[in-house]
Amino acid sequence: MAATRSVLLATGNRHKVAEIGLVLGDCGYRVETVEAPKIELQSNSLETIASTAAALAYHATGKPVAVEDAGLFIKALNGFPGPYSSYVYKTIGLKGILKLMASEDNREALFRSVIAYAGPWGIVVFEGEVRGIIAMEARGSQGFGFDPIFIPEGSTRTFAEMKIEEKNKYSHRAKAARKLCEWLRENSRLLAPGS
Ligand code: IMP
Repeated sequence: MAATRSVLLATGNRHKVAEIGLVLGDCGYRVETVEAPKIELQSNSLETIASTAAALAYHATGKPVAVEDAGLFIKALNGFPGPYSSYVYKTIGLKGILKLMASEDNREALFRSVIAYAGPWGIVVFEGEVRGIIAMEARGSQGFGFDPIFIPEGSTRTFAEMKIEEKNKYSHRAKAARKLCEWLRENSRLLAPGS
């Protein structure tokens, strides 16, 4: 399907753009990007973080804007790092998480993604999640963040061992993006041509 319409995504993360772009392409939308709001809000809720950032970006650009926020929730660590995933990735990284998990038998984890889309309609929010396990060691070189240590349910490979098409079959972000697609289909009248 030729993508004549677009969704503006506020992010500097090219992996998110590629993953969401592939899903939205299937429903006829291109992803264009705009700089993410400078404020990195601290909250226990991905919904609050994504919605606040989307509202700020909509206010700044005057155009409908989507923001995606995601986190890795590890059961044995009571949901850590959750909404603090970005900070934890930058500080202790993959090695730190593997170390914290070294003596844990329960390796269950969950990735959650929230996409908030702000526009004249207000803010709509779409959620996606994928269950899986934390690998014993980092594997693979594709993707970003915690991809090398996350194995989704139904696979034996980490996200970092998958091409985007394969990761999207499982991923939290692709699930949230498919819900955004549905909403775009049902609400195309709200979106001005070319917006
Ligand atoms: P953000 O705040 O939405 O950018 O995501 C928080 C952090 O979670 C990122 O910096 C990554 O380390 C991690 N993360 C989020 N989504 C993914 C994913 O799909 N794969 C691997 N890591 C992810």
